[in-house]
Amino acid sequence: MLIREAVADDWRRIWPIWHRIVAAAETYAWDPDTSQEAARALWMGPAKRVYVAEDPGGAVVGSAYLTPNYGGPAAAVAGAGFMVDPDQGGRGIGRALAEHVLAAARAAGYRAMVFNAVVETNPAVKLWTSLGFRIIGTVPEAFEHPRHGRVGLHIMYKSLH
Ligand SMILES: CC(C)(COP(=O)(O)OP(=O)(O)OC[C@H]1O[C@@H](n2cnc3c(N)ncnc32)[C@H](O)[C@@H]1OP(=O)(O)O)[C@@H](O)C(=O)NCCC(=O)NCCS
Repeated sequence: MLIREAVADDWRRIWPIWHRIVAAAETYAWDPDTSQEAARALWMGPAKRVYVAEDPGGAVVGSAYLTPNYGGPAAAVAGAGFMVDPDQGGRGIGRALAEHVLAAARAAGYRAMVFNAVVETNPAVKLWTSLGFRIIGTVPEAFEHPRHGRVGLHIMYKSLH
């Protein structure tokens, strides 16, 4: 599997994955009906550095972005987002993307990474914890999950020193 920086044309390959994940409304605090254009602005906006994971046949199987999580004097804290094709889950693509983005964040001089809204029922919590993130707070009952009802949103933090 290859992880590389995305080019503009990759969006049409990221979008089916993005749409399926956001429409499921289980993991992201974005409108499940987000249009393709609005989704592109969220994922590939000017402040974002975007990556894709490609399988050996050249198909895009996952994507991630890296961005300043705050502005001005707090711009050295990164934020990031990750999506893997649900048909390709559990094969190490998400972990590989996360390791790649953490390395890119360090290389870019970020001092820490924060995830603003990790749904507490998301199996990804275990992945982030295994990569050194810790839960520094939880917004209780913030997320209406289609199966679990009202669940919390974790803020997760990792120092990059
Ligand atoms: C989270 C996500 C990016 C992980 O990608 P992935 O390729 O499936 O993850 P990996 O195969 O690298 O799994 C890494 C670890 O995550 C955990 N994990 C991931 N998905 C899991 C699942 N559905 N069930 C149980 N554990 C899971 C496992 O602990 C696994 O540990 P291991 O490496 O020791 O086996 C992917 O599931 C996804 O796109 N989910 C929907 C969007 C999302 O939740 N993004 C993150 C928002 S915070």
